[in-house]
Amino acid sequence: MTTTASPPGQPGLQPVIRTSIAGASVADLARTHGTPLYVYDAEMIRRRCRDLAAWDTVRFAQKACSNLAVLALMRGEGVMVDAVSTGEIHRALAAGYAPHAAPGVGGDGLPPVHPIVYTADIFDRESLDAVAKLGIHVNCGSADMIEQLAERVPGAGITLRVNPGFGHGHSQKTNTGGEGSKHGIWHEEIPDVLRRAEWAGLAVTGLHMHIGSGADLAHLAEVAGALERVALEIGRSLTTISAGGGLPVPYKPGEVHADLSGYFTLWDAVRKRLEERFGHRLRLEIEPGRYLTAESGFVITEVRAVKKQGGRKYLLVDAGFNTLARPVLYGSYHPMSLCPADPRATAAATEDVAVGGPLCESGDIFTQTDGGFVATRALPTAAVGDLLVIEIAGAYGFVMASNYNSKPLPAEVLVDGGVARLVRRRQTPEDLVRGETV
Ligand code: LLP
Repeated sequence: MTTTASPPGQPGLQPVIRTSIAGASVADLARTHGTPLYVYDAEMIRRRCRDLAAWDTVRFAQKACSNLAVLALMRGEGVMVDAVSTGEIHRALAAGYAPHAAPGVGGDGLPPVHPIVYTADIFDRESLDAVAKLGIHVNCGSADMIEQLAERVPGAGITLRVNPGFGHGHSQKTNTGGEGSKHGIWHEEIPDVLRRAEWAGLAVTGLHMHIGSGADLAHLAEVAGALERVALEIGRSLTTISAGGGLPVPYKPGEVHADLSGYFTLWDAVRKRLEERFGHRLRLEIEPGRYLTAESGFVITEVRAVKKQGGRKYLLVDAGFNTLARPVLYGSYHPMSLCPADPRATAAATEDVAVGGPLCESGDIFTQTDGGFVATRALPTAAVGDLLVIEIAGAYGFVMASNYNSKPLPAEVLVDGGVARLVRRRQTPEDLVRGETV
């Protein structure tokens, strides 16, 4: 049960006291698996996949949350997957994805779907070997990838990731468009790049744009027009267009979910105009990461110290930026709630506290704003031994965790139908030194 006036991330009050996650007891989860602990709500992931059912293909940007159990769940929902590295290709295969499309045309007249797409701005030698050996479709973010692939896979079809000259993200660090970004093939280079693809003997079958992560819908909507213009330059070889990812999720009180049906309608209209022009059907893809997993994820931590530094009160918990890096990297806001050790505790009294972790670094603060300024959060009065739950942590959470300060990576648990299943064990001290020699 959650004694909140509204769900986390929704307009209204903040979560205050949380004693369960998707029907599993927070105290039991912490007792069984230790803290810090990542917990995912399977049903929330399914719900977010189904929100996007109008699109021909939902392709999960697995960099957001690449645990095998999460990928397998996505696969069960008919969601395809994006991979940005050999490691992510390996994960997709381990979760049961086929490396390449079945030949032919689907019953719906759409071109076959690539279960895995390798999307990057370079091939390192390992990833070039992997895509060539496995026949994985490639989305090229730099023109140099064209000749490199052609040498290994003559006659391959490719997607071009195009930088439309503008971008947007929740932080300048997550903006992937415009001159300030290294990503994608510059939109004015298309004629030259098409010549290079032709000389190399590769067919451009896909067009993709991704302007940033946590973008607002106004900016995302501009991509549709930009993609349509580039698609007309490429022409009839195209069989798939991708709107990329970037869908925002509400993290702060007062933020709301974006109008996804309006967004789909806009893209569907682009697709239909292009289909008419080309005289064949086009597959319309979307490639979200954050949207599919952010709200499903929670970090359970334990309060280990409560102290005052002058006029400011700090809660120090056993998770740090080694566990969840988004606040130190971007000043990101994550809702928080308390699960008091005393089950009779109420949220009657709240106080403003700064929340920090165990690392030997001043930036190890969860309540910070962009630029590293320490802020405070109103939380129920907490004591050592209480659990603090950091919410909306399912995207870019565990995947960006590190071993800094030689801290083990936390365990991950998936809760489905009220049943909690360990899907990655916590690292041991032996894991931390594996591969090293004295
Ligand atoms: N497609 C491409 C090519 C991408 O580079 C990304 C994210 C996505 C899709 C998914 O974007 P999403 O739907 O999740 O916004 N670490 C940052 C986010 C970095 C995003 C990197 N690329 C964060 O914690 O906010």
